Amino acid sequence: MDIREAIKSRHSVRQYTNVPIPEETVAELNKLIDACNAESGLHMQLITDDPECFNSFLAHYGSFRNANNYIAIVGPQSLENLDEKAGYYGQKIVLAAQMMGLNTCWVAGTYSRGKCKADREAGEKIVCVIAIGYGETQGTKHKSKPLAKLCTVAEADMPIWFKNGVKAAMMAPTAVNQQKFVISLEGDTPVIKAGRGPLAMIDLGIVKYNFEAASGHKCR
Ligand SMILES: Cc1cc2nc3c(=O)[nH]c(=O)nc-3n(C[C@H](O)[C@H](O)[C@H](O)COP(=O)(O)O)c2cc1C
Repeated sequence: MDIREAIKSRHSVRQYTNVPIPEETVAELNKLIDACNAESGLHMQLITDDPECFNSFLAHYGSFRNANNYIAIVGPQSLENLDEKAGYYGQKIVLAAQMMGLNTCWVAGTYSRGKCKADREAGEKIVCVIAIGYGETQGTKHKSKPLAKLCTVAEADMPIWFKNGVKAAMMAPTAVNQQKFVISLEGDTPVIKAGRGPLAMIDLGIVKYNFEAASGHKCR
């Protein structure tokens, strides 16, 4: 599976089997997480075999089952663009996990922050978590807003790389599937702007990563 296939086949999965993540896969994920932390200044951590974080009323209400592994997206509150970086690097790990045959779900609300086992150093906070494991199903495709609502460029005028980026952005996970972003083209530079909302900057980072991974072009 390549990254474009990973973008297409990734859907949120909230029910997992009991199959543990094999040691080699844990090691591979940890290697990627370490590299992303070094590059970004985040302090992301993979936590395995911990049923507590998703063992709360909210998590059950949110229909999570057997969510025993998660990536805690932690970072210093003082880090510039913390939420956007959380989204960008978290999505990089989500797509790598998809290519390793794992399923995921971004979670900012329906988990127990108090029971999350992540280490936090002074001044750090948990931005959100990503449930990870082998899904009972592969999830389903989300409904998307029409392209014209998400992009200022008409489809007929799009260079092929830009079109690939826009399509991948439309497949990106966003909080409550809000898709509050607008993509434009300034000269040769793709520009993605976030709408308002508490989770909009995490979404922005996620959407930018999807766009860049599929188009090969860096966004502003
Ligand atoms: C920042 C963020 C926060 C999210 N928080 C939750 C959550 O608290 N509970 C939940 O069940 N899903 C959560 N989701 C998953 C979204 O509902 C899901 O990504 C969206 O509906 C699109 O569906 P898809 O991921 O299958 O493409 C969150 C997604 C994002 C990006």
